[in-house]
Amino acid sequence: SSKTYQFPKNFLWGGATAANQIEGGFHEGNKGLNIADVLPGGKGRLNILKEPGFNFEIDKEKYTYPNHEAIDFYHRYKEDIALFAEMGFKVFRMSIAWTRIFPKGDEKEPNEEGLAFYDRVFDELHKHGIEPVVTISHYEMPVDLVKNYGGWRSREVVTFFERYVQAIFNRYKDKVKYWMTFNEINSGLVMPIMGLGFSIEKEEDKYTPTFQAFHHQFVASSLAVKACHEIIPDAQIGCMIIYAPVYSYDSNPENVMYALEEERLFNYYCADVQVRGEYPAFMKRFFKENNIELDIKEGDLALIKEHTVDYIGFSYYMSRTEKLDKSDQKNADGNIMAGVRNPFLKASDWGWEIDPTGLQIALNQLYDRYRVPLFVVENGLGAYDKVEEDGSVHDDYRIAYLRDHIAAMGEAIEDGVDLMGYTAWGCIDLVSASTGEMSKRYGFIYVDKDDEGRGTLDRSRKKSFCWYKDVIESNGEKL
Ligand code: BG6
Repeated sequence: SSKTYQFPKNFLWGGATAANQIEGGFHEGNKGLNIADVLPGGKGRLNILKEPGFNFEIDKEKYTYPNHEAIDFYHRYKEDIALFAEMGFKVFRMSIAWTRIFPKGDEKEPNEEGLAFYDRVFDELHKHGIEPVVTISHYEMPVDLVKNYGGWRSREVVTFFERYVQAIFNRYKDKVKYWMTFNEINSGLVMPIMGLGFSIEKEEDKYTPTFQAFHHQFVASSLAVKACHEIIPDAQIGCMIIYAPVYSYDSNPENVMYALEEERLFNYYCADVQVRGEYPAFMKRFFKENNIELDIKEGDLALIKEHTVDYIGFSYYMSRTEKLDKSDQKNADGNIMAGVRNPFLKASDWGWEIDPTGLQIALNQLYDRYRVPLFVVENGLGAYDKVEEDGSVHDDYRIAYLRDHIAAMGEAIEDGVDLMGYTAWGCIDLVSASTGEMSKRYGFIYVDKDDEGRGTLDRSRKKSFCWYKDVIESNGEKL
């Protein structure tokens, strides 16, 4: 449509990435191995967890490991940041690889080479007037903590994480003013290996370890918020969740109630703890019915109550449609969070249902519930791109997707939602998190590399590059 939208004057336009999906250099600068380094490329990447004897070791005879080189941001960050600056980015969302700072995770002293690398990146961003937005933990748990401590199920990991955040806050206090704790913290409910650092494939009681690990992350998150406010008083620190509004398949009240239950567990449970500072009432019933007894130490709940986050960062890719009895329905298998196919929506090449109005709904629901500033820190379309003979990429499908979602944010702002900014996911092509593919591309910037690891790694501007530049230049008026 020809409608134009008014975005706030200091709206934080930019793009988003994660260390493990762009950096490469997986052994350089004394970096230790993290979870992403031991997950192979390909659509079945997470099935490796079901293989007998899998012990988080690298097996190059059997698998490829796209994250080892990724797109080599480790060496090419200057060129990439210059391209972001050309689009007019105000912010760049990135993460720090925990294993660059603490290679094994449980050391006492941080690794200077790792610290120095991010100094160079932050300095380069500031040189171009771009503010970093930094995720502290984005699916990058040290493998040693997974093997030797069982990931977040161990209370000791809280101490190691606290050491890590202290090190980075002290080091970067003058350079980073926007932080986030755990990427998509609620994803631990569906992909525990990525966020919680363990697999529950073979366990009978999957609930107790999962929710105990979440509790440890909540304590760790509060300790991070506390430290951030003490060390960098002018910084803001947020939580980060996946938000996929849950729709009832129809008006059958039983389905509506079921959708609400799923919505509360998946979308609200973690945010309630991190934003409101307390476990929501509905979780008491859930814990009781599933025989979950948490080990909550004295002082934990007071700490969680006192140190709540300043804003909510969230990723938005899709909505989810639910029905109690799914037997007669097609499963929406591409969507990370199951559910059934929504007859009103089309899906991406990877089966993710495209729903811009769902973003307006998400923003309203989050703002109604929490009344804190919101930040859309991930959104985008993973698609196959075709490179023309002259090297150009006409990604009109990506432009259409982003335009519709930005318009939905404009609508939400008119609804009164306090929205800080928007960072489009994978602003430069990168390695997919769920499938380890390069061919699932999100970028404005094309990277010449394929799923087998071949390619020059050269960067080039897609059609969406110029489009996004105009969006930022006009502060969202020209979509
Ligand atoms: C989010 C993650 O789940 O979605 C990112 O925070 C991820 O790390 C993004 O890359 C898109 O998912 P995928 O599987 O297409 O890379």
